[in-house]
Amino acid sequence: MSERDAIGVIGVGWVGLVTAACFAELGHRVVARDIDAEKVKALSRGETTIHEPGLADLVAKNAERLTFTTDMGELLDAATLLFVCVDTPPTPSGDADLSRVRAVVAELRAGGGHALVMKSTVPAGTGAAIRRELDESIGYVSCPEFLKEGSAVEDFMGPDRVVIGADPGDAEAVAAVARLYQPLGGEIVHTDVASAEMIKLASNAFLATKISFVNEIANVCEEVGADVTEVARGMGLDGRIGSAFLRAGIGYGGSCFPKDVSALKMLAGNTGYHFQLLNAVIEVNELQKRRVVGKLQKHLGSLVGRKIALLGLAFKPDTDDMREASSLVLAARLQGEGAEVVAYDPVAAAAARDLLGGVELRNSALEALEGADATVLVTEWPEFAELDWAAAAPRMARPLIVDGRNFLAPEALRAAGFAYEGIGRAIEPASSLTAGD
Ligand SMILES: NC(=O)c1ccc[n+]([C@@H]2O[C@H](COP(=O)([O-])OP(=O)(O)OC[C@H]3O[C@@H](n4cnc5c(N)ncnc54)[C@H](O)[C@@H]3O)[C@@H](O)[C@H]2O)c1
Repeated sequence: MSERDAIGVIGVGWVGLVTAACFAELGHRVVARDIDAEKVKALSRGETTIHEPGLADLVAKNAERLTFTTDMGELLDAATLLFVCVDTPPTPSGDADLSRVRAVVAELRAGGGHALVMKSTVPAGTGAAIRRELDESIGYVSCPEFLKEGSAVEDFMGPDRVVIGADPGDAEAVAAVARLYQPLGGEIVHTDVASAEMIKLASNAFLATKISFVNEIANVCEEVGADVTEVARGMGLDGRIGSAFLRAGIGYGGSCFPKDVSALKMLAGNTGYHFQLLNAVIEVNELQKRRVVGKLQKHLGSLVGRKIALLGLAFKPDTDDMREASSLVLAARLQGEGAEVVAYDPVAAAAARDLLGGVELRNSALEALEGADATVLVTEWPEFAELDWAAAAPRMARPLIVDGRNFLAPEALRAAGFAYEGIGRAIEPASSLTAGD
């Protein structure tokens, strides 16, 4: 490593901006590069480009140590460790699109003492392929990111573990990366590159599997009169199972689970191995998003001309990220059934506007509920738990709610005059409303 002491960050999206801001908070100078000139301009003016708790404060507080640029040369001059945080979206075939990663590799220069630290999620084998192309003077370390949107700063600053995968020849870069993460605590897992890449994909695939599993349990609960929240509570207390990611709902979304599960399935397929379990995980998730339609039809009959209010659009609370959000599928399905869809989200409206053709966006939950035949809670934003539901009920044409995240208290909603349906919870008889009137 040379004496150039800034940390380089390439790609300033969720992972990159959090990485840059957190390293700055830890006292490092950071030069962060993005190809999106508008984003770089906004960040240079001090405007944080994504909604993530605590991030704007961190960026403002550490502005002196943070430089944003579109210029790769500036980054290469200032930093030796280059954290690659570019997006790796799915291709139409479901493989990971590595074109942005490849573009970064193509811009590197030999002999500068640089090391790439791959935080982008890439299929196992990517590091080995890059290593073969890289000049020997450039180090390569796989350091996958495990932060969760909505608690990204907290996750970065207090990781469960930090995975560092490298070839023996890259020991110097490994030591430099380990030094950076040391103050954060969390076990450092030293391993080879392919294993580090697999740890990331396998972790996300496992969590997605847990979600699809509990969603199938929920669907069976509905048939046998059990309550999945009780079942999950009882299961989760078993230390071998754990309660995390055991919450039934209308399916996972976001920028990671769908694409990473698909990328792992395709990765396996490309080697000739048929990963059967992941096919089911994906299919269950797709169908789960659509089950709400049947629940509404049970109460309302045909949805033609019915006004349905969606509460929450982002794929999870505390983010404005709409990538693969369940709301997108649900809104389209409801429109397909002839319903009029209105929606409210506390922060994701701007991000959602272009994605939700024909959906009327409202400025508050109460506005969205006005005159609605039913409402669906799609994202568990805390403000929905605090809503005065008793005041909301008379504003609706019919006080019917499908709680897609099992977030609200059924008894309280029923006391407020609602017909309440959760996911995998005791079913409200359809007769409580007049179907089809
Ligand atoms: N978002 C998450 O919660 C999360 C968590 C863990 C891992 N990851 C992984 O981290 C990676 C980044 O995810 P994200 O959500 O931050 O993506 P993002 O789309 O929010 O940000 C990626 C950024 O990279 C920029 N970029 C693209 N090509 C570039 C280049 N050649 N040089 C500089 N910048 C470039 C884009 O303009 C964009 O700003 C992905 O591989 C993702 O799977 C994401």
